[in-house]
Amino acid sequence: MYLLYCRIYQFVFRLVSYVLPFRKPEIIKSSIELPGVAKRIGLKHLIIITDPVISSLGLMDEMMKAFDEQGVKWTLYDKTVANPTIDNIEEALQIYIKNQCDGLVAFGGGSSIDCAKGVAARVARPHKTIPQMKGVLKVLRHTPVLFAVPTTSGTGSEATLAAVITNSQTHEKYAINDTVLIPSYAVLDPKLTLGLPPHITSTTGMDALTHAVEAYIGNSNTSETKKMAKDAILLIVDNVYKAYVDGSNYEARENMQKASYYAGIAFTRAYVGNVHAVAHTLGGFYNTPHGSANAVILPIVLKAYGASVHRKLAELEDLLTKDAQGSEEVKANRFIDRIERLNESMNIPKRIKGLQDKDIPLMVERAFHEANPLYPVPKIFTREEFTRIYQEIKE
Ligand SMILES: NC(=O)c1ccc[n+]([C@@H]2O[C@H](COP(=O)([O-])OP(=O)(O)OC[C@H]3O[C@@H](n4cnc5c(N)ncnc54)[C@H](O)[C@@H]3O)[C@@H](O)[C@H]2O)c1
Ligand SMILES: [Fe+2]
Repeated sequence: MYLLYCRIYQFVFRLVSYVLPFRKPEIIKSSIELPGVAKRIGLKHLIIITDPVISSLGLMDEMMKAFDEQGVKWTLYDKTVANPTIDNIEEALQIYIKNQCDGLVAFGGGSSIDCAKGVAARVARPHKTIPQMKGVLKVLRHTPVLFAVPTTSGTGSEATLAAVITNSQTHEKYAINDTVLIPSYAVLDPKLTLGLPPHITSTTGMDALTHAVEAYIGNSNTSETKKMAKDAILLIVDNVYKAYVDGSNYEARENMQKASYYAGIAFTRAYVGNVHAVAHTLGGFYNTPHGSANAVILPIVLKAYGASVHRKLAELEDLLTKDAQGSEEVKANRFIDRIERLNESMNIPKRIKGLQDKDIPLMVERAFHEANPLYPVPKIFTREEFTRIYQEIKE
């Protein structure tokens, strides 16, 4: 009965999504051009939201100089933590209000972008708390202009409707999903990702792969989301290792940035799945970096899906190997092997450190409710199946 309820819920959401405004951000090629665009659309004072590492790297210097040259004011908030918290959002919101800001620049990885989206949601809905906006279509108000400047190639948050937030008191990590949170502008400048350390390159790259694969094997695709997912997968398989071994490889960085964006376009409409449901609980409980969690979980969840994903994964294997031989099951297994080999080649561990048995029941409950009824997964996992996944990923 519950399975039927989930499938009907997903079907209704699929229909609703045809009328939702799934706009795409306008692309800007360099962060130096951003202040000129801000001035042209009449913005007077922007808050720049980032994290302490980015802030110390000098990646924003040229953009800040350009803001000053254009005579557009800016104020910096650089305390965002990985797996950004409600506290981050409230702190940045106070700065936004105090300075009478009228727009936001999110500069950094998914953490900084999602923090800025959280601030945008709170500006639009001053009387609603972040927990009250958890879920789908709870903002539903015009948000201030948001420029997203990704410096990792993984989350695709510059293209998506999601802001993933952590409650540091309850260790709960969840998404606010609303089309108003799709950034108005995305700055896609590969130069900003050249200095990304190898282990962040690999794990964020595997996050992008997870987005593309989870979107593709889900039941809510359109012809566009399928194409975006496939294009992303081709690019990632070809480039993530190259970017990992040689961070200064501009072409590989550019391709990874494109792939992350394409995968974002795919999953914002076609959703993620059980891999993300589990990964978010690990981020909430142990602050496990999101990409590392996904990289470990992806092959394990794909195996647990069994026959329900053989056809789709075989299609992906066909995409990567022309004239691939064998049954759908054989090809699907080859695709999963490929992910495991990619992980190994980039020294990504097979298990999650620090995962404790005592936390599993609550994590199972949270993962179950994140996935269901919303995510149109190929196979709806029972609590027992989720428990087995946690047992398998535990070191
Ligand atoms: N909104 C969405 O659609 C979406 C999708 C997937 C994941 N997420 C969320 O995004 C967050 C993860 O984002 P992330 O993986 O981009 O990591 P992140 O933003 O947490 O950054 C990871 C680390 O990399 C550093 N870093 C970033 N860019 C750098 C650069 N160019 N050079 C050197 N260091 C750099 C950061 O300072 C940080 O220390 C998680 O909270 C995850 O849940 C959101
Ligand atoms: Fe993700």
